[in-house]
Amino acid sequence: MSMVAANPIQERALSAGIDLSRLPVHVAVIMDGNGRWAESQGLNRLVGHTEGYRTLSKVLAMSADLGVKHLTVYGFSAENWRRPGDEVSGLMTLIADAAMAELQALQESNVRVRISGRVEEIPSPTREALTALETETASNTGIEFILAINYGGRAEIVDACRAAIAHGLTPDDISEESLSTLMYCPAVPDPDLMIRTAGEMRWSNFLIWEAAYAELFVTQTNWPEFGESDLFEAVLQFQNRTRKFGGLTEA
Ligand code: FPP
Repeated sequence: MSMVAANPIQERALSAGIDLSRLPVHVAVIMDGNGRWAESQGLNRLVGHTEGYRTLSKVLAMSADLGVKHLTVYGFSAENWRRPGDEVSGLMTLIADAAMAELQALQESNVRVRISGRVEEIPSPTREALTALETETASNTGIEFILAINYGGRAEIVDACRAAIAHGLTPDDISEESLSTLMYCPAVPDPDLMIRTAGEMRWSNFLIWEAAYAELFVTQTNWPEFGESDLFEAVLQFQNRTRKFGGLTEA
């Protein structure tokens, strides 16, 4: 099926060979390489994270224009607390500042924000900025932007099991479907494309339940330098693979 481009990015996507009728619905991103990018420029690692934030804001806008419906990014993993104190506090400050600075633009772009992770453990100013972003954008109807902060995939499965017990589910009630409804974002369809930057070939405990069937795209590009051509390349690879879901033909 061919589709008519609705905006300049869709026009460029068509020229690049992308089929606009078969876009990934939910894209998940492991934004890696901020530190390496900064070090390669002789800069402090936190400058890398600030540049990473700039990239994130561009990638959110381009994903929305392209027609992606859900974008999940790994902003801070449950393991990232092990980093040096100044990097952790720098990241927490950056996330809080970004949440406050972006609110108006997110509203104008009709973006709905969700936070995924053990939110209650995020230190106070950052937690409040994030929950405000979630509450104030809750009725927006455009792209859904899911920020995984203090997120761990195994922790999410543990939390779903705890919720199952708390809700009185019996062993017979436990199924893939019932557990799926107890994950952090049950209303969001599973990611169909997972992008990782900076070349590492690992899952790093990201969406290990939800991304069971996601297509994986790894680029050598460090996150601060990720741009439209990288996104197009990821979507093209996604479209050129046959998705079988364990069967023999495309589902
Ligand atoms: C990985 O790079 C990146 C992170 C741990 C943090 C991601 C954060 C941002 C993109 C900044 C802003 C985020 C929000 C939500 C506003 P790394 O430090 O592991 O890079 P390295 O592997 O090269 O050291």
